[in-house]
Amino acid sequence: MSTITLPGLIDVHTHLRVPGGEHKEDFATGTAAALAGGVTMVLGMPNTSPPLSTPEALALAYAQAQADTRCDVGLFAGASPEQIAHLPALGEQAVALKIYLNDTFGPLRVEDVPTLRACFQTWPRDKMIAMHAEKQSVAVGIGLAAAYERPVHFCHISRREEIELIADAKMRCLPVTCEVTPHHLFLSEADAVRLGPLGDMRPVLGTQSDVDALWEHLNDTVDCIATDHAPHTLAEKHSDKVPPGVPGVETSLVLMLTAVTQNRLTLHRLIELMAANPRCIYNLPEQPDTHVEVEMTPTVIRSETMHSKCGWTPFDGMAVAAQVRRVILRGQVAYEDGVVTAVPGSGQTIP
Ligand code: NCD
Ligand code: ZN
Repeated sequence: MSTITLPGLIDVHTHLRVPGGEHKEDFATGTAAALAGGVTMVLGMPNTSPPLSTPEALALAYAQAQADTRCDVGLFAGASPEQIAHLPALGEQAVALKIYLNDTFGPLRVEDVPTLRACFQTWPRDKMIAMHAEKQSVAVGIGLAAAYERPVHFCHISRREEIELIADAKMRCLPVTCEVTPHHLFLSEADAVRLGPLGDMRPVLGTQSDVDALWEHLNDTVDCIATDHAPHTLAEKHSDKVPPGVPGVETSLVLMLTAVTQNRLTLHRLIELMAANPRCIYNLPEQPDTHVEVEMTPTVIRSETMHSKCGWTPFDGMAVAAQVRRVILRGQVAYEDGVVTAVPGSGQTIP
């Protein structure tokens, strides 16, 4: 049994559900789950209710985050055709802008070219534009990155055709980056059948060829691992209107460490994908005196031990090779042996 020490990890794609979805998750529970997973900094998505597409909504969400967060948290602003005039004001508060090009949970959607142009013309050039883009929408995003000569980050890339398109764009030195989720690496459409509603998310789980392509590109084209932690209650998932999304912030590190023990990537590459690159892409601050201690002991992921308010994981019953033992955030013990010791409000908001 060996213990390894890692830097605090960064998950740049989480849904913390404030405001409007506090019965699924809130800043206190979502960041408790993050710490239990070895994650000391998260970025929260804007598809809340109301969405974070006005300066007022974003300021309220940041105030709530400041009161409740246990690890460090930054928030995305959401692009919306009706609220597009707010972009400069949103750009002063948010870490980055999120544009939803394809269908998923929540009302945020951009389907018209004038709104896309406004995003690329008026969003501050020193802040990232992230996209939910699937299939040919990835080509739209690459085109915009080229036309406006500014970086675009692609969320949860899940298909062979998408990762190959991004590899082609990178070969031409276009300013694009991308993330993949652990569920798209460790689960496929066969698991979607087994899991039923608990395996339903956007993008949907891929074919074996899609999964293989993500692993093939993990050491070059992929820039980071992000979980798309999207908690919904079990009652909602078992209802007749299943909301897409699965939790993940608590299980990503142990899954990726398991892949390290299987020689699918090196520990050095894991740190790039889960700490160094996310910080670089979103220009996130350093966290001094912060680290994660992990024990390389076999264990089994269990829904009962999750800290997310939703209380389940699609990886329930899966054997992994590691266990998070202790998390130190700015010199303080934030998590130890199953217990989150960081109190609500002890984390910082970014910027
Ligand atoms: C996300 C959610 O529940 O907010 N759902 C999902 O299936 N991924 C929305 C999203 O990120 O697409
Ligand atoms: Zn998401």
